[in-house]
Amino acid sequence: KKIAVFASGNGSNFQAIIDVVKSGELTAEISLLVCDQPDAYAIDRANAARIPSFVFKAKEYSSKAEYEQAILSELKRYDVEFIVLAGYMRLVGPTLLGAYQGKIVNIHPSLLPAFPGKDAIGQALAAKAKWSGVTIHYVDEGMDTGPIIVQERVKLEEDETRDSLQHKIQQIEHKLYPEILQMLFTQGDVINDTKARAY
Ligand code: GRF
Repeated sequence: KKIAVFASGNGSNFQAIIDVVKSGELTAEISLLVCDQPDAYAIDRANAARIPSFVFKAKEYSSKAEYEQAILSELKRYDVEFIVLAGYMRLVGPTLLGAYQGKIVNIHPSLLPAFPGKDAIGQALAAKAKWSGVTIHYVDEGMDTGPIIVQERVKLEEDETRDSLQHKIQQIEHKLYPEILQMLFTQGDVINDTKARAY
């Protein structure tokens, strides 16, 4: 499978995917990084792995439809078949959703539908939640609302801090995303194969 990873920041999930492609655990080719933040560390990771990147600034386009059209041309140029969102901080619009129906997935650091949107980790701490976790889901037009593929939960300790929770969540993400992508690419649809492993 030829995939594109979309990221806006650090790109540690992108790196986890690069690593499993290299090791052969994920049978995919990362054809392209798409990034909306020219300073994002994810771009350095792409360069180091010799993966081409398409970097754009949304404000240089007049609309979402226009920048997504530009993204779409790049995806076509690289024959991309599947889109993996990994810390991409924009809602995907009808242009990309229409072209990649059922072929866009996202990872989110909470047990959706709890704590959607920005800073899910901060939201879980502020709510004094006993549990949070990681959700991998198909992407639709909403904010973290698409059909859930898998969830893994994380227990919040009494003395849980932002750093400690983020660390636990990212450890799960870096293992779970490659695993689920490989399932999707080799076994097809795994919607609702919900597994809740205590961490
Ligand atoms: C991850 O926690 C992911 O769940 C969320 O954004 C974060 C991205 O982290 N969507 P990174 O850029 O992959 O390090």
